[in-house]
Amino acid sequence: MEGARKAFPGVVALDSVDFDLRAGEVHVLLGENGAGKSTLIKMLSGVHTPDAGRILVDGREVHIRTAQDAERFGIATIHQEFNLVPDLSVAENIFLGRQPRRCGMIDRKRMNAEAAELLARVGVDVPPQARVRDLGIARLQMVEIAKALSLDARVLIMDEPTAVLTTGEVEKLFGIVRRLREDGVGIVFITHHLEEIAALGDRVTVLRDGRSVTQVPADTDEDELVRLMVGRSIEQQYPRESPDTGPVLLKVSGLTRNGGFDDISFEVRAGEVVGLAGLVGAGRTEVVRALFGADPYDAGSVEVLGRKLPRHDVIAALEAGLGLVPEDRKGQGLVLDASVQENLGLVTLRKATRGGFVDRAGQRTAAERVAGQLGVRMAGIDQRIRTLSGGNQQKVVIGKWLLAESKVLILDEPTRGIDVGAKVEIYQLVNRLTESGHAVLMISSDLPEVLGMSDRVLVMSQGRITGELTRQEATQDAVMALAVKDVEGSRGH
Ligand SMILES: Nc1ncnc2c1ncn2[C@@H]1O[C@H](COP(=O)(O)OP(=O)(O)OP(=O)(O)O)[C@@H](O)[C@H]1O
Ligand SMILES: [Mg+2]
Repeated sequence: MEGARKAFPGVVALDSVDFDLRAGEVHVLLGENGAGKSTLIKMLSGVHTPDAGRILVDGREVHIRTAQDAERFGIATIHQEFNLVPDLSVAENIFLGRQPRRCGMIDRKRMNAEAAELLARVGVDVPPQARVRDLGIARLQMVEIAKALSLDARVLIMDEPTAVLTTGEVEKLFGIVRRLREDGVGIVFITHHLEEIAALGDRVTVLRDGRSVTQVPADTDEDELVRLMVGRSIEQQYPRESPDTGPVLLKVSGLTRNGGFDDISFEVRAGEVVGLAGLVGAGRTEVVRALFGADPYDAGSVEVLGRKLPRHDVIAALEAGLGLVPEDRKGQGLVLDASVQENLGLVTLRKATRGGFVDRAGQRTAAERVAGQLGVRMAGIDQRIRTLSGGNQQKVVIGKWLLAESKVLILDEPTRGIDVGAKVEIYQLVNRLTESGHAVLMISSDLPEVLGMSDRVLVMSQGRITGELTRQEATQDAVMALAVKDVEGSRGH
């Protein structure tokens, strides 16, 4: 790619960018949220055409105008936002538009068998007939990878593939990527997890504000990578300052859903950040969705500020002062075709009403303040969410709940897809919340984040709490030991 440029209304996303990829290498693209990484790869995959510049494949200039063009040149892409069709099966998604046929009919048997083989290669236990709608986010990612493998690509582009995976799954993915590299496939890899760069990468191209700043080897140390990426160094990645704790704000007792989770009991006090750790599938998201009223449960109780919540009633939970930043921002967190301001105001609309009228000016000021605090990169507060970069969309989900000023805030994978600099801003906001007497319950599959930001850590395995660790006790090994602990008589996940 030579001198590539792409502008959108109000923003030049990419300008004069050179980028090259060799056979048999992993080339990492690094940059802050909104730096232009996804825009760059979308020009290679036929989503966007460059305004200027050239793309060469094997030294010959090519024009990639559609996804089919990209496929023809052997370029397969796993996008940051999934491209699967929810109502089709896993196998149908993998072979969408290229289903094996026999006598003019789709050969389902062969399709399912081939899909099963690809799924086994990525090491995920999903039946090919399963509906994509019913899969969790980590499994969706593995299906996307299986789909890319099925194309036998020479160039594989992965836009933040590890953002939704846990440690074990990341290792599996790395195994697959290394094998492909040995086979001579060129891989473009985007990640905000710096430790993955040295582990997997060969070269790194750093983008800042739509320009390529530099190219360095992947074993460049992390502090240096941060400096190149954000233009300054970051002193402290986890700035947690634990204030004194106050009264119990959230009390969960014996919460149980048959076949889901069992006898979950814990408390969170004012001023506390309690981490909820565990592997994907341990039941963490299920528990917080149930206690927030988004899903039903069979037994137990949830109290917020001493008041018992009715079960399966989100409105009551909201009114009691509970907030939930969900893990799946596209599905539950945002209205993609509405503006930044409208999305930020979704939870607070009721509060912003003055004398029967919505206080629009007040809402706008508040939205602008929060967007500024979180460093949301946008052309303006009226920009549509769909056109923000992935990380900036995530910041809006968090901002929405910050504006709601919930007494107890549940964060489910809050910094997924967020760059290292912006993470620190979010942690500082969490500090400010707890200082002013709020309580935070945080689910995260990012162990350093759980350890770095929690005052206490609860660990779940197979639908149960297998242990509680203080900040001092909570080491990576201690958490992992509890996270893989077998629970007797459990649902056997
Ligand atoms: N379709 C679009 N319309 C308008 N602006 C867009 C569009 N797509 C991207 N942009 C803007 O281009 C810039 C670069 O976005 P891009 O998605 O490439 O960032 P990124 O580096 O992938 O960030 P992230 O780490 O958050 O995924 C952002 O300012 C974004 O808002
Ligand atoms: Mg992106």
